[in-house]
Amino acid sequence: MSNKDGQRKREVAVRREYGRLAAVYDKRWTHYVRASAEQTLDRINLTESELLLDVGCGSGEVLQSLRRMYPSAGAVGIDISLDMLRVTKEKSVPNVPLTSGSAAALPFPSETFDIVTSTSAFHYWRDPMLSLDELLRVLKPGGRMVITDWCHDYLACRICDQYLRLFNASHFRTYGKEELGGLLTAAHFEDVLVERYKISWLWGMMTAQARRPA
Ligand SMILES: C[S@@+](CC[C@H](N)C(=O)[O-])C[C@H]1O[C@@H](n2cnc3c(N)ncnc32)[C@H](O)[C@@H]1O
Repeated sequence: MSNKDGQRKREVAVRREYGRLAAVYDKRWTHYVRASAEQTLDRINLTESELLLDVGCGSGEVLQSLRRMYPSAGAVGIDISLDMLRVTKEKSVPNVPLTSGSAAALPFPSETFDIVTSTSAFHYWRDPMLSLDELLRVLKPGGRMVITDWCHDYLACRICDQYLRLFNASHFRTYGKEELGGLLTAAHFEDVLVERYKISWLWGMMTAQARRPA
């Protein structure tokens, strides 16, 4: 199967998975969703005149909290699942346009955003380098990126990754801290910093920060 076919097949599987989960997502994973969004938001250092893009915005936790923290900053959300976008729409986050689309082909002009964020979506991306190229492209020169995701350096994540690879067609793979840092550097981001941490006694995550060269 070609890379493109593989990508398309996985995106269909992601849409199907989140069509099934959208109605229960926030309730079933309340602690996880809040804690991971907080890790992303803690690192964005936005100013009110800046424009943020949240990729794989899902049910809108990052966008909703962002609106509370920065009432007049610009923000846009994109997700591949219309069902998850519908959940965000129902929350009526003011002045946040939502678009459906893939991280691998962002429907925005180059050099549009001051900051791009993504929380708990990276492990679905079938071609991470293609998606990182897209994130870099839509950032303004000197723009920042913050990605939070599961971290393969922790045992619970490795077990979950193996299980999902076998039994869940939407899942692609998880990465460790060093590997994610390497991907970002290879994608020509600079000032790459990846931190790993636990958000519960069991679950390990990481957040990467990087910048498009000025
Ligand atoms: C675990 S949810 C996380 C949602 C939200 N960011 C949060 O923190 O709660 C993963 C989301 O990523 C989206 N997603 C997965 N692959 C994607 C892709 N290639 N492009 C855009 N969105 C994608 C899914 O549809 C889903 O809404």
